Amino acid sequence: MSQKKLLVTAALPYANGHIHIGHLVEYIQTDIWVRFQKLRGNRCIFICADDTHGTAIMIRARQEGRSEEELIAEMKDAHEKDFAGFDIAFDHYGSTNSPENYELCKQIWSSLREANLIREDDVEQLFDPVAGTFLADRFVKGTCPNCKATDEYGDNCSKCGATYSPTDLINPVSALSGATPVKKTAKHLFVQLEQLHPFLDQWTQSGEHLQPEVANYLKGHFLGKPLRDWDVSRPAPYFGFAIPDSPGNFWYVWFDAPIGYIASTWQWCKQNNESLDDWWKSPSTQIHHFIGKDIAYFHTLFWPGVLQSSGFSLPSFVHIHGFLTVDKEKMSKSKGTMVRARKYLDHLDPSYLRYYYASKLGPRLDDIDLNITEFAQKIDSDLVGKVVNLASRTARFVETTGLCDVYPEDGGLFAAAQDAGERIAEAYEQGDYSRAMRLIMELADAANGFVENTAPWTLKKDPQQHARLQEVCTIVLNLFRQLCVYLSPVLPRLANQCSTLFQSEIHSWSDAYRPLVGMKLSKFEHLMQRVDLKKVEQMIEESKDTPAAAAAAAPAPASNPAVGSNPASADNAPAAVVDSAEPLTLEPLAPTCSIEDFMKVDLRVARVIKAEEVPEAKKLVKLTVSLGGDVTRTVFAGIKAAYTPAQLEGRLVVIVANLQPRQMKFGLSEGMVTAAGAGGAEVFLLSADSGAKPGHRVH
Ligand code: 2FM
Ligand code: ZN
Repeated sequence: MSQKKLLVTAALPYANGHIHIGHLVEYIQTDIWVRFQKLRGNRCIFICADDTHGTAIMIRARQEGRSEEELIAEMKDAHEKDFAGFDIAFDHYGSTNSPENYELCKQIWSSLREANLIREDDVEQLFDPVAGTFLADRFVKGTCPNCKATDEYGDNCSKCGATYSPTDLINPVSALSGATPVKKTAKHLFVQLEQLHPFLDQWTQSGEHLQPEVANYLKGHFLGKPLRDWDVSRPAPYFGFAIPDSPGNFWYVWFDAPIGYIASTWQWCKQNNESLDDWWKSPSTQIHHFIGKDIAYFHTLFWPGVLQSSGFSLPSFVHIHGFLTVDKEKMSKSKGTMVRARKYLDHLDPSYLRYYYASKLGPRLDDIDLNITEFAQKIDSDLVGKVVNLASRTARFVETTGLCDVYPEDGGLFAAAQDAGERIAEAYEQGDYSRAMRLIMELADAANGFVENTAPWTLKKDPQQHARLQEVCTIVLNLFRQLCVYLSPVLPRLANQCSTLFQSEIHSWSDAYRPLVGMKLSKFEHLMQRVDLKKVEQMIEESKDTPAAAAAAAPAPASNPAVGSNPASADNAPAAVVDSAEPLTLEPLAPTCSIEDFMKVDLRVARVIKAEEVPEAKKLVKLTVSLGGDVTRTVFAGIKAAYTPAQLEGRLVVIVANLQPRQMKFGLSEGMVTAAGAGGAEVFLLSADSGAKPGHRVH
């Protein structure tokens, strides 16, 4: 197998919030892939950094009366400690606020200028005359222009859901100073991405660099029309890098953030006597980005466009994952499910979460759900019951004798597990960790069957059987070690414990292909505890109302549970340009239909007057809805994972009122409730603004 040269990155976390279990999906996922590549003998470096610039940091530093530099240094330290606590082993962890990043931004900027990709335009924004700063959407409050609700934020209304520009708010107030903002025009600089459209069509649709659903999404949502110009500057004051040829302007945080991938690699190169060009300009290096689906646009359109225009290598693959839900709901501060990394580490073993996430992660973009009962069951039954159990039931019996000199006949167990090695490796390679874990647990089941049949604890009682006991233990311990090799990308601690027990380092995948014999073992030390549910409860209790992003002093933190997303993206991203939090809805648009076609569907506002569980149905909730007067309908809706009956009763929904009734197993469904989202827990019911009445037709 020829050695590959791989550069792997995970998204750069914002410096204005602490790491929580949602973020950890990505860092654990990436760390597993990197450890796997290293174990397979590939040359692989894992690069990350803190994403430090932007309004949110500037405002928070002001509020805390200290410099931005002091603030970001403190957060970087906290992030690095949290990652280390979860065994996430970066080769280098830098910062976007570095001289290397500034140098690269300047280089890349010159290339974009030379390629005539930059244009200037005036942008009108609200400006706080007291704080002396332009106001990002989330820093303005006022009266909703649509429903007149007061105290709403500058980008959308929490009451009626209308979206608008902050300049549309009635009686706007700056959330920074309380002053009335004024409209002010400033020059902004834009990257004209449309000029790169043919290249991006080809790169995104080649089938080589993106998951198919991502390529389709881009095609359906962005590539079918001209690409929007991208606003990459912010007027002073702004915490970031000054644009050299545009006095008074700074690069927007999202311009320098991905360049931070290169800058952090450069720092690593300097420390390791390597050449940056070998990693970022050489066709022999593959670049792999791991990101969440909320920042797909930046990494699959804007970033490849920038790289292409400035002579750097393009990513070989952008691996995109879904979000974390807890018990099928968004992480919630009030429920204590938005658990900070540090809080988790105070109570639980990081290996649990690494294994649990691995057992749930596939190669697609599905959200992954953390269910505490399942979490405890998986750890107890798989890791403690099936893997660790093999060593704890045998190692003590060979403490004095050591392992047999020749590997005994085992009925083909070791060879079968060796055969499975390449299938497991392939699953890791493809990011299908859940399949890898299933294959490994099948091997663990076979090994446990052998333990049950040979019953070493019975052999121990009979001195005549001690030779056989040594054979059985030699077999079981070698099977255990094979599993530890296969699990080592996920469970580096277990692999280390195994190395200590055998006094033989696990450093390569092929360690699973060669049994160890004729050696003494170290004294057996306990390997892993069962999950203590009391500690889980305590962790959740202590996480209640202590925001995972409490450090974010933004006055209006968005409670976005997205992995890799964070209030700062909402604060900083102008909706008119690119909404980084835009969900990755995967279907392309349906074919055009006529107004007559549309009017055949009778959509009506309805009020949910009763919502009931359907215990036998996995997905359904039974709704009785009123269409006004005494006209009611019964509708079975597949929204159980997203809404409880209590959340539904009393609210307005929009139903398809003339849908052919359908006899279901649980009763007759007389319509359909409309909702958006991908399904499962990601379902969002449509509602009508206040004022609408049950029975109103939707046109
Ligand atoms: O979404 C986020 O949390 C960003 N800080 C990710 C940046 S990744 C890259 F572009 F730097
Ligand atoms: Zn409103």
